[in-house]
Amino acid sequence: MSLLGKFIDGVKTLGLNVTLQSALYPLRKRFYSAKFTSPAPAGNAATTYTFAGRVLAHHQTPAAGDIGRQTLDLRCENAQVQLVLLAADLIRVRVRPNSRLEQPAHQPAEPFSYAVCTKAADWPPTPFSLHEEQDALTIRTEKLHCHIDKNPFALTFLDPDGAVICADAAGAGWRGDNVACWKRLPPDERIYGLGQKTTPLDKRGVITSMWNRDPQFYHPGDDPIYANIPFYLGLRQGRGYGIFFDHSARGRFDFGATTPGVAHFEADAGSTPDNELRYYFFYGPQLVDVLDRYTELTGRMIMPPLWALGYHQNRWSYTPDSRVREIAGEFRARHIPCEAIHLDIDYMDGFRCFTWDHSRFPDPAKLIADLHAQHYRVVTMIDPGIKVERTYWVCQEGLEKEMFCRYPDGKLFRGPVWPGDSYFPDFTSPRVRAWWGQLYQGLVDLGVDGFWNDMNEPAIISSNNDTLPDVVQHEYDGFGADHRTAHNVYGMQMARATAEGLLKLRPDERPLVITRSLWAGSQRYNMHWLGDNYSDWPSLRNTMQLVMNLGLSGIAFTGPDTGGFVGTPDGELMIRWNQMSVFTPFFRNHTVKNSADQEPWAFGQACERLCREFITLRYRLLPYIYTAFWQSAQRGLPMARPLFLQFQDDERCYDIDDEYMFGDAFLVAPIYEQGARSRRVYIPAGQWYDYWRNTITAGPQITRLDAPIHQIPLLVRAGSVVPAWPDMQYIGEKQIDTLTLHVYPGNGVSWLYQDDGRTWAFRDGAYRLTRFVCKLGARLEITREVTQPVEQIAGLDDYARIRIKLHGLAHPPAHVHVDDVQIQECKFEAENRTAILETGPFTEITVELAPE
Ligand code: GLC
Repeated sequence: MSLLGKFIDGVKTLGLNVTLQSALYPLRKRFYSAKFTSPAPAGNAATTYTFAGRVLAHHQTPAAGDIGRQTLDLRCENAQVQLVLLAADLIRVRVRPNSRLEQPAHQPAEPFSYAVCTKAADWPPTPFSLHEEQDALTIRTEKLHCHIDKNPFALTFLDPDGAVICADAAGAGWRGDNVACWKRLPPDERIYGLGQKTTPLDKRGVITSMWNRDPQFYHPGDDPIYANIPFYLGLRQGRGYGIFFDHSARGRFDFGATTPGVAHFEADAGSTPDNELRYYFFYGPQLVDVLDRYTELTGRMIMPPLWALGYHQNRWSYTPDSRVREIAGEFRARHIPCEAIHLDIDYMDGFRCFTWDHSRFPDPAKLIADLHAQHYRVVTMIDPGIKVERTYWVCQEGLEKEMFCRYPDGKLFRGPVWPGDSYFPDFTSPRVRAWWGQLYQGLVDLGVDGFWNDMNEPAIISSNNDTLPDVVQHEYDGFGADHRTAHNVYGMQMARATAEGLLKLRPDERPLVITRSLWAGSQRYNMHWLGDNYSDWPSLRNTMQLVMNLGLSGIAFTGPDTGGFVGTPDGELMIRWNQMSVFTPFFRNHTVKNSADQEPWAFGQACERLCREFITLRYRLLPYIYTAFWQSAQRGLPMARPLFLQFQDDERCYDIDDEYMFGDAFLVAPIYEQGARSRRVYIPAGQWYDYWRNTITAGPQITRLDAPIHQIPLLVRAGSVVPAWPDMQYIGEKQIDTLTLHVYPGNGVSWLYQDDGRTWAFRDGAYRLTRFVCKLGARLEITREVTQPVEQIAGLDDYARIRIKLHGLAHPPAHVHVDDVQIQECKFEAENRTAILETGPFTEITVELAPE
């Protein structure tokens, strides 16, 4: 588009004033950057890297507190190195250049990090031994060995059998303000993770940047975008490890793209306070264990309220209120389940956060109460930018209390977003976070259920999708930093402020805060959505790569704008997208301003019918999906898992990123191509049931699965017990007294997690966990074991009735016993290859299967 075309487009969307401010912003930014950036001191202009050099001395810190016993300090020619053993499979590495030791902002004994929540002193002491040879030292734990070359200093991580897991190439170095590290990258190693990356799952051959950025809209391959996380997983020959590079400053990862066989990561860490190189090394060998440890270090996913897992409907923007009511009415009238309606920025008065446009929303309290009466939840958007306007109360208060970011000379920073020039709260200040949190009081009083924090990279609307200048100052929780260091954590701290505020305002309720920008550790506070994708097939294909990458980076709860944000999908794309979104953690339909309608009924009756069917399926599967969420909150295992997470010994899974496991039971192989009515699927080892046909297939094999427009290729692992609810229009529509258990004969263990779906009572033990064990030998045995008696827990369905559906049977079972009593009524549906029986809470069911 020509410059003039862009300008006219901008005026249409943003208005003349904001378009002009946006056009001028790059000049303003350049002016302030030049004004406050001093010419680089000689050291900073360095073109070559310095390395730690020879190890001159070492000592294990004597028993000075718990962490002392786990610390090895090394004095090298050019640096101080510290290795801290946090667990038998986790080592923290710090390299502090001698040249920076005397800098006033040098690191405190325990480094400050927004990402890390389990500090060194919190890890229980780990037994280890230290062996010294002339040229080397070796730390040994029961799970990991760390070999330290003395001349020059270099690290090699090995498993206890001596197999190299990850070795330094050049190792740790620094140049100017940067810190960097080079590791060897063997030819058969795969690399995964790093947050919201639009590249294929394996990051080999990729150079990628750590800089949260609003790309405006994105396509596969665009980098960086909103949510970057400096944590990656390496996998080779069944052995998995992780590296978390704990620097919030602008960074870069290069996996063999510049130098084949070498992985390189680097950050602009010389700006205060991160003037050292710091990373954490995790060893599995199972990647699920690496994720477990990583989320122990940076925090587990906050357990969301159950309603967050339902279907959400949105557009930019439903306005005025009559349109919101109309949408709410349509879903119920058409019997399409829907849980939440989102209000995008146009509910606000001129995009002023924490206000309402009373001409379009004259009575928000009544609107929200009416939506609640129809059993909808309401989510409202809040952006970080606060309109520069002295008569606007949030601006006034923010100015009076000094909440906004400033330049080094104390002048307030301002930049254009939706309302025009805006101030930006400094969320790296605890004082600002506390203030921001209580601003939600009004929305909470109105009954708003969930909150959506957008534009928090932070994004500035300008010709080149900008952000704040590097020279803007941040409090950085008392350490002080400029925007280079604070940028990547800005969104995380905004969404944290929101979540912490809500915890004070509604202490009994689990908050739902949706954020676009993330950093390592964000999972402790919020969930995420994938931002402004396109309504096209390549974006559909890219979605699960993004979701899986985020899951491998600790951010399990995310999902796309179903149907795509920019553009208009056709009915077929809409159907395929909805089919896949049933099996994504977050399921929300959203589209851009002025686009065509994108509600499930906007594409004709066939699409509406199929969307209804699939959204209904999502609701049926909620007990299963909620259990997968619980697993994730326990151990960092994402709900949507690449095959190699479950089948790590099978190297054929390492490159597969177009199919995935959703929870323990489902293998999902979405259709990503227009017109496709079948697709190639890799089936890992074991027996699998075709969800639609109840036929059995054995893996490993590559096969072709049918995918008529009303089906998504879907397999269920043999031995699974999948709990299901009846069809519902919204959560809580029915008192559920019958739980359906879909049993897929085979050998396996399945879980059902239940709590009140709303409060924190589960933390005090108010939850029920049921374990199902399926054994298939001469007979099929299904045992059910409940961890806590029902009577003790308020708000839980007690499932007085259980309906068992036995899938994949060619003939009716010969005999069925429930707790040793023979059951006479067992319905058999030959066409569906399913036997159905009704029972109460049981301990053991045995089924004599008729011979095939
Ligand atoms: C951003 C968001 C998008 C939203 C729009 C208006 O582009 O990513 O979801 O609709 O802003 O608020």
